Amino acid sequence: MNSVEDMLKCLIPLLVILALQADGSAAEKLLHRTRRQDDAAVDFKCPKADGLFADPETCRKFYICAGYYPFSQNCPSSLYFDDIKKFCTRKTKQLACGPVEQPDTVAPPTPDPNATPGCDPANCVLPECYCSSDGTQVPGGLEVSDTPQMILLSFDGAVNSLNFDHYRKLLTKTRTNPNGCPIKGTFFVSHEYTSHFHIQKFYADGHEIAIHSISNRSPEDWWAAASYENYAEEMVGQREILHKFANISRDALLGMRVPYLHPGGNDMMNMLYDYDFVYDSSIIVPMSHTPVWPYTLDYKIPHKCMQGTCPTRSFPGLWEIPLNTLFSEDGTGGMCSLADQCVFQENDDESVEQFLKDNFKRHYNVNRAPLGLYFHVNWFNDRNKTNVLLNFIDDIRTKHRDVWFVTMQELVSWMRQPTKSADLSSFAPWACEKRENSCNIPKNCEVPLTMDGYTEMRYMQTCAKCPVKYPWVGNFEGAAEGINIMELTRDADPEPVAEAEAESRKR
Ligand SMILES: *[C@@H]1O[C@H](CO)[C@@H](O)[C@H](O)[C@H]1NC(C)=O
Ligand SMILES: *[C@@H]1O[C@H](CO)[C@@H](O)[C@H](O)[C@H]1NC(C)=O
Repeated sequence: MNSVEDMLKCLIPLLVILALQADGSAAEKLLHRTRRQDDAAVDFKCPKADGLFADPETCRKFYICAGYYPFSQNCPSSLYFDDIKKFCTRKTKQLACGPVEQPDTVAPPTPDPNATPGCDPANCVLPECYCSSDGTQVPGGLEVSDTPQMILLSFDGAVNSLNFDHYRKLLTKTRTNPNGCPIKGTFFVSHEYTSHFHIQKFYADGHEIAIHSISNRSPEDWWAAASYENYAEEMVGQREILHKFANISRDALLGMRVPYLHPGGNDMMNMLYDYDFVYDSSIIVPMSHTPVWPYTLDYKIPHKCMQGTCPTRSFPGLWEIPLNTLFSEDGTGGMCSLADQCVFQENDDESVEQFLKDNFKRHYNVNRAPLGLYFHVNWFNDRNKTNVLLNFIDDIRTKHRDVWFVTMQELVSWMRQPTKSADLSSFAPWACEKRENSCNIPKNCEVPLTMDGYTEMRYMQTCAKCPVKYPWVGNFEGAAEGINIMELTRDADPEPVAEAEAESRKR
C-alpha cells in the first residue's frame, strides 16, 4: 500500500460491509484499527518479533510489535515514549527519546559462575519449595478446572487521607469472596507521606501491609545497584517504622516490592532471606500467552529476566510472586507490569474493560496462574477507569464461584498447600479474620526531616507517640539520634549456622 488513495480504496468496501453488519460505533472502531495497522506497515520495520519500540521520528509515538507486525501507538498528551523503560512518561533529562540499541539477550553481561541450576522437581517439594521447568505448571498436580483463580490487587506507594477513600471504594466489605469474607488486597507501602493511622485501618480490615521502602528514592536505577546494606536500611527500616507507628506485628510484615521494579539482584534477595521475609514481588515475566505461577528461589528463575538484575543464586524457600506482563489481545493497551502503566490507544471505557477481560481470560482459561492487578493511585484519580475496574470486579465475582481476591500472604499459604476450589470454603488461611483496631483518634505529628543538609517539616498521622524527628533511613525510630539497622543486628547474638549459610550463598 503506497498512497492514501489506495488505502481508501481498500477501506471503503470494508466500511460498507460493516455498515450493513454492525452499528456505527463498532464499524468506526474497526476502521480505526485497520487504518492504524496500515499506517504502521508502511513506515516501520520491527527490530524484533515482539515488544515495544520507539518511533525513530518522534518520541510521542511508539510501536507494539507482535510477530514482526507493528501496531502504531501514540503516547497520551504531555507524555513521551522512553525506549529503555518501554513506556510513556514525563519529559525529564533521563528520557531515552528515540530508538535505543538493545543487546539481543537481556541476560546479565557476565554470567554468574555460581548460578543456580534449573528446576529439579525431585528435590523441590512443597510446602518449602516449588518450581516447574517453564514456571507455568499448576502446583500440587491439580487440574486447571479444580484450581481457584486467585486475583491479587495491590497498591504501591504512600497511603494517606488523599487516597484512602479511593482504595476504600474498591475494598468495601460488601464485595465478598465465595466464602462470604470481604475481598482483600495488599499495600506495598513506602514511608514518605504515609499516614500510619490509615495503614492501621486497612490492616484491621484484613488487608495485607507489605514493604516498599522508606524513601522510594530516585533515580530509579539506584535500586538496581543498591547494596545489601542499602536494602536492609530501606526495607527492614520500613518494617520497623510500620511496626512502631502503625502497631503491626513484625511477623505480619513479610513481603516486599522494590520501587520502580528495579530489583537489586542477589544483594536484595540475600537481605530478604537473612531478615526473614517470606516473599518478594518485583520480578517481571515477559509477555506470554501462558502466565507464570509463583515459585521459590531455590532454582534458576524459569523465565527470561526482563530487568537484567534478577537474582542468580539460590535462596531456598524464599517465594517470588512475579509480575506477569499485562496486555490486551489486540495490542491497543500496550504492555505493562503495573496495570496503571498501560497506555490505552483510545482512552475510552471500552478499551480499559477489554484490557481487564483479556488478561483475566488469559489466566482463567489457560493455567489459572494468579492474576496480578497492581496499581498506583493514579488509576483511581481517573473516575472512568475506577468505575470500569469496579464493574469488572463485580462482574467476575458474580459470574464465577472459583475466583478469589486474596492477599499475597494468602496466596503463599495456598501455594504451600494447594487446595481445590471445592474445598476452599473451609480453607483456614482464607477465613475471615477479625483484627482489633484501637486506633481511632490519631495524633497529627509535625516533625523535622533533615536531608542533604537542609531541614523541612513533615506531617504524619499515627496513634503511637509522635517521634522527635521524621523517621527516615538511618533513623527508623525518629529519635534525636538515629541508629542503623545493620548496627542493630550486629549487637544481636549471631547464629553461627545462619552465618555459615549466608557465607556460602555469597560465595
Ligand atoms: C497495638 O495492638 C495491640 C493488639 O495487637 C493492642 O492491644 C494495643 O493496644 C495497640 N496499641 C496501640 C498504641 O494502638
Ligand atoms: C466516562 O464515563 C462517563 C460516565 O459513565 C461516560 O459517559 C463517558 O463516555 C466515559 N468516557 C469515556 C472516554 O469512555
